[in-house]
Amino acid sequence: MTDHSELIGRADVNDLEAILAITNTDVDEVAHTVRAEADAMFTWDYERSRPALGKLYEKAKTSQWNANDLPWDIEVDQEKVAEENQNQNGFNRQGDYADTPFEKWGDKEWIRFGVESQNWTLSQFMHGEQGALICTAQIVETVPWVDAKYYAATQVMDEARHVEVFARYLDTKLSGHYPINAHLEMLLDDIIADSRWDMTYLGMQVMVEGLALAAFGFMHQMTEEPLLKQLLRYVMSDEARHVAFGVLSLEEIYRDMTAAELREREDFVIEAAHLMRDRLLMREVWERLGYDADVWIKWAIETPFMQGFRQLLFAKIVPNLKRLGLLTPRVRAAFAEMGVLHFEDNPDSTLDEGLTVPPALLAMFGNLAVST
Ligand SMILES: [Fe+2]
Ligand SMILES: [Fe+2]
Repeated sequence: MTDHSELIGRADVNDLEAILAITNTDVDEVAHTVRAEADAMFTWDYERSRPALGKLYEKAKTSQWNANDLPWDIEVDQEKVAEENQNQNGFNRQGDYADTPFEKWGDKEWIRFGVESQNWTLSQFMHGEQGALICTAQIVETVPWVDAKYYAATQVMDEARHVEVFARYLDTKLSGHYPINAHLEMLLDDIIADSRWDMTYLGMQVMVEGLALAAFGFMHQMTEEPLLKQLLRYVMSDEARHVAFGVLSLEEIYRDMTAAELREREDFVIEAAHLMRDRLLMREVWERLGYDADVWIKWAIETPFMQGFRQLLFAKIVPNLKRLGLLTPRVRAAFAEMGVLHFEDNPDSTLDEGLTVPPALLAMFGNLAVST
């Protein structure tokens, strides 16, 4: 067994104290600065020598959409949506919650929890999208290939639109924002600060966007709210291209890397995977609702329902890393411990448009929900 405890800062992957130690320190900050050290690179080689990236660029140009074209006049009853979502995903009043933090909850508590979870989730989507906007603008500067600069420029526009739609949905249809989650912020800061251009891709296009694609797919499948459903469908059609952009770009350079260089990428994957997994605990929701967040997080880490949900979000990341040759023995050991290695045989994002959650994954989720 390969030891990665140093990388993730704890010996036990489920060490509650270590997970809880990372919290937002300044929830009122209005701006956040990260020092980026990467070199901006001109290329004088304008030859279009990467046809796969060229094809993606053409597709991006004809797939642009306008946020104003979404049906914003639809009225959203957030409490009703919260209840419908809970009925869809099986984590609702009907479950048996003896000896859990929800044992005494009535309709009011379930609805409040549903509403705040949605505010939190959409807020994190919005912050993550801004991370993608900044990272992709950085790729325009740092990537040495002209085809990749062209494509990345289209992604910058896509990401601006994604921030725009999530911010607008939060402001006009939901009932409150949350600051960025501490684990997500740490991960985005690490990605932006890294001076190696492939690390921007690996962190953003492969890890963060891979997780986002699975999360959007899940929410798209679950929600009956027509505006959000359409919004997510549009965003996902862009995201599938973004993940493919990362995989197509990286496979070219990872083929020729030395063992020492690849080891640094493995380290990064292991660390990022843990940060993403830990952020899905919604600590901030519990604090806002006035409950003891530690009690909830302990439940969230241990219960099969939540474990299954967090594993599901790695469904796109694992096959993409495999295609990149990064599913090495050390990464495999870390993923086996997290219970996500079985996704390795899913299609990678150059083959799969990623617009739906595979039925087998949904079935897995359904079974877990029932057995809570
Ligand atoms: Fe995006
Ligand atoms: Fe994206």
